[in-house]
Amino acid sequence: MKMLPEYLFFHFPLVNFETFLWVLFFMAIFTVWLAPGGLAWARSRTRTPKSLPGPSGYPLIGLLTVFTGSTPHRVLAKLATAFKAVPLMAFSVGLTRFVISSEPETAKEILNSSAFADRPVKESAYELLFHRAMGFAPYGVYWRNLRRISATHLFSPKRIAGFESFRLEIGLEMVEQVKTLMFENGEVKIKNLLHFGSLNNVMMTVFGKRYEFERSDEGFMLEELVSEGYELLGIFNWSDHLPLLRWLDLQGVRGRCRSLVLKVNAFVGKIIEEHRFRRIHGVSHDKSCSVRDFVDVLLDLEKEDKLSDSDMIAVLWEMIFRGTDTVAILLEWVLARMVLHPEIQSRAQAEIDAVVGKSRPVFDSDIPNLPYLQAIVKETLRVHPPGPLLSWARLAIHDVHVGDSFVPAGTTAMVNMWAITHDEKVWSQAEKFKPERFINEDVSIMGSDLRLAPFGSGRRVCPGKAMGLTTVHLWLAQFLQSFKWVAASEVDLTECLKLSMEMKKPLVCKAISRPEE
Ligand code: HEM
Repeated sequence: MKMLPEYLFFHFPLVNFETFLWVLFFMAIFTVWLAPGGLAWARSRTRTPKSLPGPSGYPLIGLLTVFTGSTPHRVLAKLATAFKAVPLMAFSVGLTRFVISSEPETAKEILNSSAFADRPVKESAYELLFHRAMGFAPYGVYWRNLRRISATHLFSPKRIAGFESFRLEIGLEMVEQVKTLMFENGEVKIKNLLHFGSLNNVMMTVFGKRYEFERSDEGFMLEELVSEGYELLGIFNWSDHLPLLRWLDLQGVRGRCRSLVLKVNAFVGKIIEEHRFRRIHGVSHDKSCSVRDFVDVLLDLEKEDKLSDSDMIAVLWEMIFRGTDTVAILLEWVLARMVLHPEIQSRAQAEIDAVVGKSRPVFDSDIPNLPYLQAIVKETLRVHPPGPLLSWARLAIHDVHVGDSFVPAGTTAMVNMWAITHDEKVWSQAEKFKPERFINEDVSIMGSDLRLAPFGSGRRVCPGKAMGLTTVHLWLAQFLQSFKWVAASEVDLTECLKLSMEMKKPLVCKAISRPEE
């Protein structure tokens, strides 16, 4: 063993030498802790030539508590401004290294770069087998095939048009349910109604089947599976970022996921078997349906594209999570805004009355003639984006530069779309709900203009965007044609980010039948 030089002992008696070591130790801890971007960035600093600005957060956990709160998008937006890191901010959550963009230029670079075409797979997604579904599948041949198959057979304009009669029917049923609720209670809590309508809409396109949620055991079971999965995917799981905690499963996420996945396999597996049986025996499952559902499409795939049953279950099940609540939650925000801005609501109704009238139902083909209605939906997507942090993040596959900044492979990249859509430099009177802004200027919301990209952008842009928008436009038009929406109690716009950004206090309103006005 190497001895310490004598002069050290001379100048530092033993007690002082110990103190000296402790000081060194704490200095090291503080240097790591206070490093820009926090612990995870400090660990990779040797590979990062110039430090990116960003908060260091708490020792060890970094900004973890930001994500356990209900509005991380707002906190991150404030931090980005405070640290002069709007284009790109570094931060850590436990041992995970993050960057976040709150500005259109760097957001575009991230979302459109092939370097960020992967997604970080959280434990819940992995346990629910979603790494085999489109949203979490690694960038590669398997993922590309899923995108191609669904673009042709689920999300193409022809397929979307083919499901119009179901959308229409479900919309009209919701209108009747609103009338019943008004008759029974004198007010409507719209959230549940929209959730079940949207769930049935997705079930029809994906499984070719709809459910009576309150009356049938199967419907009840489906709802239980969906809400459990929704909760599990939305939970911020500490062990995703603190590997030491992984085996402890402190929040019980793994246990719950494993129990859920068995039930989902049985439920969806049974639907797939029913489809196989019908195909063998030549039975058509729904006479009103002229279009094949997505299960049929997947069963028809030829050799090289063919999916195993468990992959098929993952793909089908994911569509339900992605397609149901995004649509329902967006519509709840739109209706909240209609209640808060009666003059905007009246203008939209006048437009519907002029184009459609009151005596016939609205069809998809009417929507291009309802620009103000479309502007209302765009403005709601701007003010209340369902994915303020664009839902699920991206992962750097290899080292890459964003602007001048070096981002090492393995970094999780996020875009704060909420910060961009609320930035006064990007949108004038950003806090004001003003649909007219989209009448005066044609802004594409499909991913080419990063000032407003609620469906993301680039290779992993939302494939269901046209389907989602078609549904929201049609149902909103049906709701506005049928009712005048007014407040039943104070409308509270407080947000709560789960898997999507929900209204913390669900909207309760009155719907007055319009012909009776
Ligand atoms: C208002 C409705 C919707 C909104 C706001 C929305 C938003 C988003 C966002 C922000 C992303 C991430 C995009 C990115 O990383 O650049 C996404 C991905 C995705 N969405 Fe949607 N979405 C909606 C409706 C739907 C519907 C109806 C479906 C299907 C039925 C769907 C299926 C998906 C899938 C599968 C992905 C993952 C794509 C991939 O990683 O390759 N979405 N969505």
